[in-house]
Amino acid sequence: MLKNTGESYGLIAKSFHWLVGLVVIGLLIVGFLMDDLQMSVKLTVYFWHKSVGILVLTLMIMRLCWRVYNHAPSALPTHRPWEIVLAHIVHYALYAVLIAMPLTGWLMSSAKGYTVNVAGLFSLPDLVKPDKRLAEFFVRAHYYLAFTILGLLALHIAGALKHHFIDKDLTVRRMTWAIIAALLFFSMPAQAADKWNVDYGASLISFKALQGGSAFNGTIDKFTADITFSPDNLEHSKAVIMMDMRSAKTGRADLDGYIGAPEWFSVSAFPQAVFTAQKFESIAENKFNIIGTLQIKDFTTPLTVPFTFLTVENKAIVEGAALLNRMNFGLGTTPDFEDEKTVSHMVGVTFRLEALKE
Ligand code: HEM
Ligand code: HEM
Repeated sequence: MLKNTGESYGLIAKSFHWLVGLVVIGLLIVGFLMDDLQMSVKLTVYFWHKSVGILVLTLMIMRLCWRVYNHAPSALPTHRPWEIVLAHIVHYALYAVLIAMPLTGWLMSSAKGYTVNVAGLFSLPDLVKPDKRLAEFFVRAHYYLAFTILGLLALHIAGALKHHFIDKDLTVRRMTWAIIAALLFFSMPAQAADKWNVDYGASLISFKALQGGSAFNGTIDKFTADITFSPDNLEHSKAVIMMDMRSAKTGRADLDGYIGAPEWFSVSAFPQAVFTAQKFESIAENKFNIIGTLQIKDFTTPLTVPFTFLTVENKAIVEGAALLNRMNFGLGTTPDFEDEKTVSHMVGVTFRLEALKE
């Protein structure tokens, strides 16, 4: 938590980063504006500019020691070699200027003959004797260093934004506190999952149960599947499968007469059965669970369906199976059929879909 790991910055490095960052931005703004202030407030602002500037010097020395003791995390796989080199140059340059900046301020004050007092608590020793030309030199150095910091920060922040919004990697999130990270996470443009167009000719939804103790199979020939799915973006994946129950058949005349009957699928009142995915979870390589609901007639029941998702180029084959208890969907619950000896309560449903990425 406190220390950096190979993957992420720790709390101490993060705190140094954001504390120094905010204070330095404040000092830059105040520094550029303070010369134009009215005399009544000007002296107070100069006093606090110097005190806070010395705080930055102290923090930067502590931060440098911490950086030497606790190495920065390694580059991420998304970082290109030139980005790593550029980031290192900018980071080291920022360390250097953030130490040089308060030092030149202190030197400038000493050369002007003003002893630096920190927050009214104690005075710092004068680094040089009063000297007008030296004072002018340090004023100029302080001024040019301010622009150097601005230039480096422009590069630094542009790099951070590129990693966050273009490369969409963890660079910024591993430097932020959880709360900022959460905000950044939600600020990331939602990346849509892949849309899939199902090839209905090559796809099949089938069911299997026992009738009078022997197995029978059936199919649902007409269905539509609206699928948006990416294995690496389960959060934005969606699926809705609408099955036309009028197209359900077993190929056995004695059974098919019953399928659409009111005791079973009651197809004239409820032509559609709908499976709606609410969440996807990964269970193994290429294996997932869809957690959703299945609506048959006016019964909506939660259902988890494991499936495999295999892709070759832009083609996907999705195969899955689930076991349903027909009694949970009001299928054959009348006295004539409720006994398992008529039709088993458990019905297996399997599907195999072929789809092309849009
Ligand atoms: C919007 C503002 C900022 C963002 C998003 C930001 C982001 C970052 C990130 C992501 C890193 C880690 C880079 C990596 O893992 O390679 C970093 C490091 C660093 N940042 Fe910033 N930064 C910001 C402002 C600042 C400011 C204002 C300063 C200085 C005044 C600063 C100074 C540094 C330094 C010196 C490092 C190197 C840290 C180390 O490795 O010890 N940053 N920054
Ligand atoms: C990271 C720390 C610091 C930053 C970012 C910073 C920033 C600035 C900036 C932007 C200016 C305006 C430059 C100009 O217009 O000439 C300025 C002026 C000044 N700073 Fe700082 N400063 C820092 C630390 C210090 C310290 C530690 C001192 C003294 C102990 C100091 C003393 C002054 C003084 C006296 C001026 C007025 C210079 C003049 O006569 O025009 N600064 N600072």
